[in-house]
Amino acid sequence: MRRLPLIVFLAFSTPAMAQELKGFVSRDRLPDPSMPALLAGGETWKDSCQNCHGGNKLTGAPKITSLKAWAPRIDQGMDVLFDHAIKGFTGPKYTKMPARGGNADLSDEDVRAAVAFMVWASGGKAVAETWAQSAIQKME
Ligand code: HEC
Repeated sequence: MRRLPLIVFLAFSTPAMAQELKGFVSRDRLPDPSMPALLAGGETWKDSCQNCHGGNKLTGAPKITSLKAWAPRIDQGMDVLFDHAIKGFTGPKYTKMPARGGNADLSDEDVRAAVAFMVWASGGKAVAETWAQSAIQKME
């Protein structure tokens, strides 16, 4: 029963990207989020996630800005996405998300911010901003 209000909330909030961008999507093709945690996440995303999630079809990674690829994943909730990105995850088609995108130097919070940035740019603006807001409160 908790799902319905969230879906309504998402449907009426403006997505950061209204539609999927064509071709490979590098960080410089995307707008800058105003919230600091998301902006930082965008930097990490560029360095450690873009190679696959910019639209590398060979890897099977869900492409940033693809609402179709991301909606069912965002529905799982941010905690599941964070867990899969931090620990690594193999999907039903045996495509593999490496733990921390293969960059062991990233902290849990770095990975969370990169996930939130990707969600923000892929139809999940409201959930990403809610997370970014709590990240600011934790820093205070
Ligand atoms: C080597 C390629 C590669 C890199 C680099 C990579 N990913 Fe992924 N990622 C994947 C693939 C492939 C999947 C899809 C797995 C599946 O569902 O089959 C995926 C899926 C995901 C998912 C969705 C998990 C779910 O439960 O649906 C998240 C979140 C994610 N990646 C975050 C990140 C972040 C954050 C980074 C950078 C720190 C990153 N990825 C770097 C390949 C990569």
